[in-house]
Amino acid sequence: MKTILITGAAGFIGHALAKRLLEQGRRVVGLDNLNDYYDPQLKRDRLAELTVNPLFSHVNFDMADRARMAELFTEYSFDGVVNLAAQAGVRYSLINPHSYVDTNLVGFVNILEGCRHGGVKHLVYASSSSVYGANTKMPFSVHDNVDHPVSLYAASKKANELMAHTYSHLFNIPTTGLRFFTVYGPWGRPDMALFLFTRAMIAGEPINIFNHGNMERDFTYIDDIVEGVVRVIDHVPEPNPNWQGDSPDPGTSYCPWRVFNIGNNNKEKLMRYVEVLENCLGIEAKKNFLPMQDGDVPATYANVDDLIREVGFKPQTTIEEGVQRFVDWYRAYYRI
Ligand SMILES: NC(=O)c1ccc[n+]([C@@H]2O[C@H](COP(=O)([O-])OP(=O)(O)OC[C@H]3O[C@@H](n4cnc5c(N)ncnc54)[C@H](O)[C@@H]3O)[C@@H](O)[C@H]2O)c1
Repeated sequence: MKTILITGAAGFIGHALAKRLLEQGRRVVGLDNLNDYYDPQLKRDRLAELTVNPLFSHVNFDMADRARMAELFTEYSFDGVVNLAAQAGVRYSLINPHSYVDTNLVGFVNILEGCRHGGVKHLVYASSSSVYGANTKMPFSVHDNVDHPVSLYAASKKANELMAHTYSHLFNIPTTGLRFFTVYGPWGRPDMALFLFTRAMIAGEPINIFNHGNMERDFTYIDDIVEGVVRVIDHVPEPNPNWQGDSPDPGTSYCPWRVFNIGNNNKEKLMRYVEVLENCLGIEAKKNFLPMQDGDVPATYANVDDLIREVGFKPQTTIEEGVQRFVDWYRAYYRI
């Protein structure tokens, strides 16, 4: 896997992954349209860290542009593709549903077609813990059924897994979907809790705590996500010879298709996460307790047995270490 296309390379996870692949001496083409879902300056600053490396090229257009996407796959010969570009965010999918269809569905078909015609050896794509939707059996396992999403965002991610399956079946394209669990860390996303809380606490403003604080998340540090993705890229899925249509395993297939959870395998209470942040910042948060938000789920918790077995990796970083690194980055980046 020498030449890799990363979509969403100016995003939180894409930037960290691109950096790592460049350090390994791989050639990376980063597609990102730098849209303004959140501060594009943060995306430009992430990108600036990548463009200094001659092994990196940035291409700037919308993944939903079918003709331009087809051209990209003729311009370059990609060994691997990591699709991270998406309209992310659960709550925003109630406000602007069409943007999820444009990028996560239309854009994703363009990726699949590119892989089909471009002879790509492995497509890795971001799914999400949100596909577990209304499931309450913990920890969440890839071998559980995930047919009950509670937001359009989650449905679009589940749709990606299904769409990928058809391409693995029809065209024998190896595909791996990665269900990331609440990712946090330096260069993080301004629409996510840690960023929102930090900004508000420094400004002396209250933080919004949903479901009256009764939330649990499997918070996963960015470096652990990157390590998992890097290992998966080189681990091309093979058909599961034991898969049977009369008792179909949702996590594997008779064709080269897999899904993995990448989570810390640790269920943390949201109030503990806030406490750790308070300690790192040395500021006590003013807390605004609110009811549960539509589209959200009260708890997530990843079973990572398959990841450990197949790629020999389990995320390790504690929230005490990870939140401290985020706070250090935040202070340096915003010169506080
Ligand atoms: N961060 C998390 O906690 C988390 C959890 C589960 C899943 N995911 C998934 O992981 C992936 C990466 O997430 P992230 O947190 O880095 O998000 P991000 O929003 O920081 O990164 C996505 C990048 O894709 C780009 N992009 C979006 N639509 C595009 C389009 N139509 N054409 C070209 N570029 C486009 C954006 O400009 C952005 O830079 C996403 O697919 C997301 O759904 C993230």
